[in-house]
Amino acid sequence: MKTSESRRRHLIKQALAKEGTYDPLAIPRCEDINDDAPEMPRGIWFGEWLGKFLMSLAGLAWEFCTSLPIMQRLWRSYFVQYLHGVCVVSLGILFQKLGMLHLDEVDFVGGPAKGLTAIVTGPTSGIGTETAAALARRGATVILACRNVESGEDLKTRIERSTVKSGRDKPDIEVWKVDLSSLKSVREFSQKWESQKRPLHILINNAGIMSMGAAREETEDAFEAHMGTNHLGHFLLTLSLMPSLRRGAQESADFGPSRVVHVSSSMHLLAAGGVRKSDPHFRLPNSYRIEQAYAQSKLAQILFMKEMRRRLGPESPVQVFAVHPGMVLTNVTRTLPQWIQSLYRMMLQWMLLTPSQGSRASVFAATDKDALLEGWKSFGYFNSNCRPLQTSPAGQDMLQSQWMWKWSAEQVQLPPELDLPEAS
Ligand SMILES: NC(=O)c1ccc[n+]([C@@H]2O[C@H](COP(=O)([O-])OP(=O)(O)OC[C@H]3O[C@@H](n4cnc5c(N)ncnc54)[C@H](OP(=O)(O)O)[C@@H]3O)[C@@H](O)[C@H]2O)c1
Repeated sequence: MKTSESRRRHLIKQALAKEGTYDPLAIPRCEDINDDAPEMPRGIWFGEWLGKFLMSLAGLAWEFCTSLPIMQRLWRSYFVQYLHGVCVVSLGILFQKLGMLHLDEVDFVGGPAKGLTAIVTGPTSGIGTETAAALARRGATVILACRNVESGEDLKTRIERSTVKSGRDKPDIEVWKVDLSSLKSVREFSQKWESQKRPLHILINNAGIMSMGAAREETEDAFEAHMGTNHLGHFLLTLSLMPSLRRGAQESADFGPSRVVHVSSSMHLLAAGGVRKSDPHFRLPNSYRIEQAYAQSKLAQILFMKEMRRRLGPESPVQVFAVHPGMVLTNVTRTLPQWIQSLYRMMLQWMLLTPSQGSRASVFAATDKDALLEGWKSFGYFNSNCRPLQTSPAGQDMLQSQWMWKWSAEQVQLPPELDLPEAS
């Protein structure tokens, strides 16, 4: 009999509870569990079964609809793709928790990270805080790459305190300054990092903005703020850190390839026609719409991931992923008036994930051995339930990802020695 994921977790929890310990590093894999171990409670089994059943049903319905010729014709329309995106995002908010009944808390997701070095951008709030804390708890050296060093130091103290309180060793955490909306700051960060010749095993590009309700803004490099912060800053950072990522893979053969994880979003579906090549920075009068600017920046992260995977190839010592963390209750609405934020929290708190639940996809992609293989099913994109998922049609457009790479390299004035050669 095949041991299911939830049964495995249940057994592990039972064993750990008996010993009074809670050590995610001690979690055995499915294959290591003896099949004559006790059955798990019916409630857990039913939850997992229901989640899988509903997901399969939705998958079948989708495949049936898209196989109809009329639907295929309609699907070519950007408007229909946009409507589909709106439905996916809205239904995602309503039903996301159902699709992840099989998942447990973040400490039970992914693999070990002891002895590894991880950089997490944007760790001072929301999903980034929980991602950094989860990696620190399992023994990684975590670099808090934040724009506000004071908040970073405060977070470092909080993670150290809570980790020690839970009976583990004091984690190794460093606070480094980087502002993703400034190319100068990104260059300073990566030059300082590279000068130390340290290995890097995990880079989590998590920092992001969504300036709801605010007017169009530009970064100091005159980029539209979402594109500049969410994509272009991370584009330069990632390619600048490639020597360290390669070193990381060489020095930790057990872990396998080093990993880059982009925290993207299902909102990329709303950039249905792809990146606006003629005006990516929304400079034309009356062209700016916040949801399009955000969606496009999240699509840009996916296109960057796809092209990087293509250029690096399957055997590369560096593997790249993008994830949708889920719809999560964080400070992402901070630009809205206070009363709308309170209303948003009040109305959606039952449907949205906690930041800790939102960190699971990042931690999975960054540490789980299965992610390397699973990632090939969707060319590197994972949903918030840690399962591979296809991106939007625009996200699968190879010409678009090639264009995106060249355009991004021009925008950040990428030195030729940092560029990756075209795949043959
Ligand atoms: N929440 C969701 O429902 C959701 C859904 C899909 C995708 N995402 C993505 O998940 C990621 C994390 O978002 P979140 O929800 O956790 O939001 P959040 O609570 O607002 O956290 C964003 C983090 O990014 C940092 N940041 C923003 N601009 C930066 C810059 N220029 N340089 C360096 N750091 C910067 C912030 O730093 P400060 O603390 O200094 O402001 C903060 O630490 C984002 O990429 C977001 O697009 C979120």
